Amino acid sequence: MAIDSASGPSPAESEHELIEQGKRLAAEAAAALVRDEMTVGLGTGSTVAYLLPALASRKLTGLRCVATSPATERQALELGLPVLSLEALDGHLDIAIDGADQVSPQGWLIKGGGGAHTREKIVAAAASRFVVIVSAEKLVKDLCAPVPVELLRFGVAASLAALSPIELRKAPPSPDGGLIADYLGPIDDPADLSDRLAGTPGVIEHGLFAPEMVSEVLVGDRAGEVRRLDGAKPVL
Ligand code: 5RP
Repeated sequence: MAIDSASGPSPAESEHELIEQGKRLAAEAAAALVRDEMTVGLGTGSTVAYLLPALASRKLTGLRCVATSPATERQALELGLPVLSLEALDGHLDIAIDGADQVSPQGWLIKGGGGAHTREKIVAAAASRFVVIVSAEKLVKDLCAPVPVELLRFGVAASLAALSPIELRKAPPSPDGGLIADYLGPIDDPADLSDRLAGTPGVIEHGLFAPEMVSEVLVGDRAGEVRRLDGAKPVL
């Protein structure tokens, strides 16, 4: 069989490479914001998987990190990053860095593609500065479903009925025992939906993050550049 050695990557492979490059560049730019002695919240996901080696390579011996998932904790420890509990740091972090599934022009985020949004929101809210790292295709004109939701196991049928249309995810429960579901309805107004989800009994946390939580979004674009979008949370 003849092998066409001249053929390069397929369009799908090139697209994938551009997305991965965007994630890596955003992650590396965020790692450069961290100074020694800082306390750092580490998000979860494939973009954060680029952040951890970039952070470890800086050899900042005074860092103390909090991980938002077992996967992040494992990778961080393997790379020699010290991981503590948020309690050990008195519930406060200097900076948190995390990916997102969608970023709206108004600065709203949808997070929780990996089902870690409850811990991620706690960590983001505990940080003086919350930096979001994304590749360019995460910037959307309008947010759209799914919106991840973590539900208490007790009474889950009632919670699902109250939140219809919603679908339980075929995934293990969160490390805290909550069931992960995806709200599939329209997002006409993210603030209204955020209030509705948060106000439904049985909802532990949902994946809509308000602009007020976000200090900045670093976007790794297809030209190999990193753009910075200001969030609404002041960077002190
Ligand atoms: C996990 C998350 C992730 O940050 C989000 O899903 C983005 O993931 P990735 O960097 O793999 O695209 O919220 O719960």
